[in-house]
Amino acid sequence: MKLCIIGTGYVGLVSGVCFSDLGNDVICVDKDEDKINLLKKGKVPIYEPGLSELVVKNFRNKRLSFSSNLKTSVKNSDIIFICVGTPTKKGGRSADLTQIYNVAKELSLSINKFKIIITKSTVPVTTGDEIEKILSKKNNKHKFAVVSNPEFLREGEAIRDFIYPDRIVVGSNEKKSNRILKNLYSPLISKGAQYLNTSRRAAELIKYASNAFLATKITFINEIANLCENTGINVEDISIGMGLDKRIGSRFLRAGPAYGGSCFPKDTKAIISTADKFKTNLSVIKSVVRSNENRSNLLLKRVYEILNNRLKNKKITFLGVTFKANTDDMRDSSSLIMIPALAKKGALIKYFDPTGYKNEFKKIKNVSFENSIKKSLKDSDLIIIHTEWNDFKSINFKHFVKGKKPIIYDMRNIYSHTKISAQGFKYFSVGR
Ligand code: UDX
Repeated sequence: MKLCIIGTGYVGLVSGVCFSDLGNDVICVDKDEDKINLLKKGKVPIYEPGLSELVVKNFRNKRLSFSSNLKTSVKNSDIIFICVGTPTKKGGRSADLTQIYNVAKELSLSINKFKIIITKSTVPVTTGDEIEKILSKKNNKHKFAVVSNPEFLREGEAIRDFIYPDRIVVGSNEKKSNRILKNLYSPLISKGAQYLNTSRRAAELIKYASNAFLATKITFINEIANLCENTGINVEDISIGMGLDKRIGSRFLRAGPAYGGSCFPKDTKAIISTADKFKTNLSVIKSVVRSNENRSNLLLKRVYEILNNRLKNKKITFLGVTFKANTDDMRDSSSLIMIPALAKKGALIKYFDPTGYKNEFKKIKNVSFENSIKKSLKDSDLIIIHTEWNDFKSINFKHFVKGKKPIIYDMRNIYSHTKISAQGFKYFSVGR
């Protein structure tokens, strides 16, 4: 099948590459010509394990191509996936759909035969209806079907999540496109993925409801972790004890810093905004957003306590600054709140992240990047383990700090309290 993917961000690029690997002819389109030129050279603009190998493999065997010409690419394809960004509107909570509607307008001028037009981007309920209206304006009636097929992949695990998804959700209001999509996804269905066909609006909402639920689960355990800290209980026992109940499940019950990334913060706000539009009060999700927004300050308060409120000239090391491991993505990472706040109070911050220097801290005084764990730990008073990279899971602190005894604040509960304390370090973690 001939597929056209519009937008080469996380979702677009991973989907395009994986679909081509499954034997389809895929053309990935982006208006950013520099990005397209990079991709044509086999260079991947994002950090995602395994992605560049698949790009090179499928580009070489000519199943995957890249273009900045939307019109021609659309004309030569049967199925069009819209994978452009839907960020939060500036100064608001709702999703900014400018890119989606611009693509829809361009598509309306390029439809030359029956096309299935699919939103893979996370879009609010009724976006499909709006796209249909835009396309219909140009007399394209009966020459297209608008379908919602949300993508559930996680950064850092994107290829595996795409190829082995728990479920494939297709929201279409007619049978033909459902049949074609079921066929497109048949290699994944035969490996065990559940295929679910719903109305278009339901598919749109399934994505938001899923992300909001996962964000709720994390926020819930983070608040339970606060209670554990005040009652001398280990939150990991609680996660295990709760998770063993099959109705609850053990995943996404790891306490830590505020959740971040390109999806949870944006999507929880957007679903609230959609609900407001439809005069519905999502009070649970509202309080999740509030609790998560407060969380970085709560953890900062703990840092102040650990340092007896003496921050001036204290040398603080951040191990990891991305919002989670296996990604270079800094969007809504809690380090973006914590590092500037600590620097403002006079602390001297050094950070190391396996994905390198971060522009986000460029203008902040007293914040510097070190290119190794060893250099970042030198002379440190407080080590904050912020991101759960494998690189940080078996550090020999004694060896690195050479006689000094920095305090360790492990925000990802990587280490055991007993073992680290036995080495003479003061050790703090989350909910334990
Ligand atoms: C998420 C969804 O999981 C994915 O289905 C959707 O398509 C996009 O959004 P992603 O943002 O890539 O994926 O990362 P995820 O692994 O879900 O983590 C999100 C945040 O939650 C991170 O900040 C992570 O550290 C945090 N998290 C996750 C926890 O704090 N505890 C957990 O138990 C799990």
